[in-house]
Amino acid sequence: MKSSSNKKLFCFIIISLVLLLQPIGLKALDDGLARTPPMGWNSWNTFGVNIDEKLIKETIDVMIKNGMKDAGYEYIVLDDGWEAKERDKNGKIIPDPKRFPSGMKALGDYIHSKGFKFGIHNDAGNRTCADYPGGRGHEFEDARAYASWGVDYIKYDWCNTGTANAEETFKTMGAALKATGRPIVFSICEWGSNEPWLWGKDVGHLWRTTGDIIDCYDCQAVYSLGWKHILDAQVGLEQYAGPGHWNDPDMMEVGNKGLTLAESRAHFTLWCILAAPLMAGNDVRNMSDEIRDIMINKEVIAIDQDPLGKQGYQMMDHPGKEIWVKELSKNQWAVCFHNTDKVPLKMKITWDHLWILKGKYSKYKVRDIWNKKDMGTIDIQKQDNEDFVKEIAPHDVLLLKFTPVK
Ligand code: GLA
Repeated sequence: MKSSSNKKLFCFIIISLVLLLQPIGLKALDDGLARTPPMGWNSWNTFGVNIDEKLIKETIDVMIKNGMKDAGYEYIVLDDGWEAKERDKNGKIIPDPKRFPSGMKALGDYIHSKGFKFGIHNDAGNRTCADYPGGRGHEFEDARAYASWGVDYIKYDWCNTGTANAEETFKTMGAALKATGRPIVFSICEWGSNEPWLWGKDVGHLWRTTGDIIDCYDCQAVYSLGWKHILDAQVGLEQYAGPGHWNDPDMMEVGNKGLTLAESRAHFTLWCILAAPLMAGNDVRNMSDEIRDIMINKEVIAIDQDPLGKQGYQMMDHPGKEIWVKELSKNQWAVCFHNTDKVPLKMKITWDHLWILKGKYSKYKVRDIWNKKDMGTIDIQKQDNEDFVKEIAPHDVLLLKFTPVK
């Protein structure tokens, strides 16, 4: 009698707990992955489908020597074109035998032995965008193959998907990845066509928000956009990002030939303000010291990787200039002044206008991050802070960090 009422009580407690926890939103993807935006290198922006294991190994070796590994670049992602043109006779997805003669398991082992993680691209449709075998109908067997190769990150594209429903289709691959039991970061790449920021959080760890980036400031082609257009398209999306689930404004073009040094610096800075995944998209074997210094600047990367995990937002948009701000942990703020004009800008910073800083703290230490200069302390409650005028080169930025003084 007693034991049966105990059993009833136990069942009651379990059912109540389940019901209670549901609305709190214990999501399937609270899996500990991508708690800060993923960082790494991706082959697509510079190499397209011309990739092979020699390039991957050389890239890795350089990233160890040039400080990128130490700066946090972790995932080495092989984009479209690693596959053989057709599956094998058993329907298994296989790498191109000429370009990847050692096979994917061996490449994965190499990547891991150097302290990096292994990323791969494929597609939710019948064929990838570059016409290699896609994953449609093969999701579970492909996910098992990827897991057996030691894959840690999958970018899943959206070409040749016909009338398929994006959310359902990506959910299928998400379930396939989960079924492998291997922790794999799932990068949704449907170019923002189906508002993935509304459903991506429960399906993957990051989702592309736009069409493809190209290496220019504000040019535009049919499917591709300069980084300034992509930046503009992020306005309002900040509410959807957070630890484990990020908006992805695409891999970086930093260091690629269509950008000036200032445009590369500004691109990098604003991607950090956006808490964007930082995927280098250049040939790291042939980059200038200036570009390397941009890409490994630890203070700027720390803004992207800040543990609070808040995406920054546009605070002001005026002709020729804009201000973006990002709240950081410990009540710190990053503020980015961006000259969107083709001529130098004399930016007058009236401290009093930085209303985001007003609240709990009165005094802030100010640091000019790119110029590595401490600028003293301001008292945001007082009117007598001297205005500050700074010239910002065309398409360049001024990046300030504010740290409260207690
Ligand atoms: C799409 C993606 C790109 C890249 C290519 C590969 O265009 O958006 O990032 O992966 O496919 O074909």
